[in-house]
Amino acid sequence: MEIRPAREADWSLIYPFFSAIVAEGRTYAYPDGLSADEALPLWMEEPPGRTVVAVDGPRVLGSAKMGPNRPGRGAHIATGSFMIDPRAQGRGVGRALGEHVVTWARAAGYRGIQFNAVVETNTAAVRLWQSLGFRILTTVPGAFDHAEHGYVGLHVMFLDLKAERGWAPAPA
Ligand SMILES: CC(C)(COP(=O)(O)OP(=O)(O)OC[C@H]1O[C@@H](n2cnc3c(N)ncnc32)[C@H](O)[C@@H]1OP(=O)(O)O)[C@@H](O)C(=O)NCCC(=O)NCCS
Repeated sequence: MEIRPAREADWSLIYPFFSAIVAEGRTYAYPDGLSADEALPLWMEEPPGRTVVAVDGPRVLGSAKMGPNRPGRGAHIATGSFMIDPRAQGRGVGRALGEHVVTWARAAGYRGIQFNAVVETNTAAVRLWQSLGFRILTTVPGAFDHAEHGYVGLHVMFLDLKAERGWAPAPA
């Protein structure tokens, strides 16, 4: 598996799992039923943001986007979003993309990474981010209308890169 910057031609391979994950109604609050053209600018970031894909040969296994969480005076805190093709989940792709985003943000000089809306019932994601050093700062009650569970909380999760805690690449 390789992680590389996404190209426009990758979008036709990302969009099917982007739309399937949104349609599941369990993890993301994007509007339902976005067309490929409507969803493209919401996932394929322009600088200073960036979007990457995890690929295995011609297959796109997953994608992550990252960039400043806020413009201007909030731009020293990064954010990120992740979608792994359901057929490739549970095989380490999400962990590799999470580590990639932490490495990128640290190298780019960000002071921390904030995930704004991690659905509290998304235990795979919550545990993965915690294992990378993120902690839950607060939970906004009932902020996500889950397709199965109804109104559930959204965690705000944060990794303080200045505290030098959390995941770091093994020394060479
Ligand atoms: C959440 C998501 C990014 C995780 O990526 P993944 O490739 O499936 O996960 P990985 O195989 O890298 O597993 C990483 C960790 O997640 C946890 N995990 C994965 N699948 C899990 C499951 N079904 N139940 C519980 N924990 C699970 C484990 O803690 C695992 O740790 P390990 O590496 O020590 O085994 C991915 O499933 C996904 O895209 N889901 C839909 C969209 C989404 O939820 N995005 C994130 C929003 S914050």
